[in-house]
Amino acid sequence: MSLTTMDVLLRMAEKENRAVGAFSVGNMEMVMGAVRAAEETCTPIILQIAEKRLAASPLRLMGPMMVSAAQNASVPVAVHLDHGLTLDCVREALAYGFTSVMLDASLLPFEENIAMTRQVKALAAPCRATVEAELGVVGGNEGDTAEHKILCTDPALAERFVAETGVDALAVAIGNAHGNYPVLPDLRFDILEQISRRVSVPLVLHGGTGMTDDMFRKAILLGIRKINIATASFDALAKRAKAYADRTDSPDYFALSAEMAAGVYENVKRHIAVFSGR
Ligand code: 13P
Repeated sequence: MSLTTMDVLLRMAEKENRAVGAFSVGNMEMVMGAVRAAEETCTPIILQIAEKRLAASPLRLMGPMMVSAAQNASVPVAVHLDHGLTLDCVREALAYGFTSVMLDASLLPFEENIAMTRQVKALAAPCRATVEAELGVVGGNEGDTAEHKILCTDPALAERFVAETGVDALAVAIGNAHGNYPVLPDLRFDILEQISRRVSVPLVLHGGTGMTDDMFRKAILLGIRKINIATASFDALAKRAKAYADRTDSPDYFALSAEMAAGVYENVKRHIAVFSGR
């Protein structure tokens, strides 16, 4: 049984100066591709799904599958609710056995973000689940067309936020955004460094798709311990499916399923190598 809490994985990564990849999934092929990459490279990962994705991939189906995949993996795997929007969804994820939850209250005023995060901590505590929160505003918008304007995390507020919430991991905004970047982001490593000096919990980088390997390495050096990758996996799956459809006159479901899993597998494996310093 390799279902693990996210906190354990992030603390292990801290000792080894690396980051853990948190890979978003939306169907069985994505789960299988990600877990295969983790097992083949003998590297722990986090499987995650965002609340906004649940319209296409219901939690009652995805949740038990993700937990089961983690339980049966040959490497430690944490199962995480990404960008929870409601306490109900947090409760549901915990009931399915998720070992980590995030409620994204980053668009609320500072004090309300603190109050919401405290409520999540109280829900997660009996399950011994890890809690991630976000401070500042990451650009783009997970699974939506509306874009959020980036607002970098204030290092002094980050210190207060962690002290007042007891949160286990903090997602920072340093110029990063969800989705494909139109141009390479100009990440504020100076701000990341200041946050790292003030905050002792592991830091999380959202919007990993499209960042360069050098950006990942520098972020890890400055204290990032969890890196989220979503769009790159969805795109890799879609590209492999399209290539398969383009080259066959008699499409076969089972071949298509294997192609989709392989696309995700390759993307996850590539990121695992960078995040592990290989
Ligand atoms: P990308 O879609 O940019 O990889 O972002 C993933 C993410 O941060 C999920 O929370």
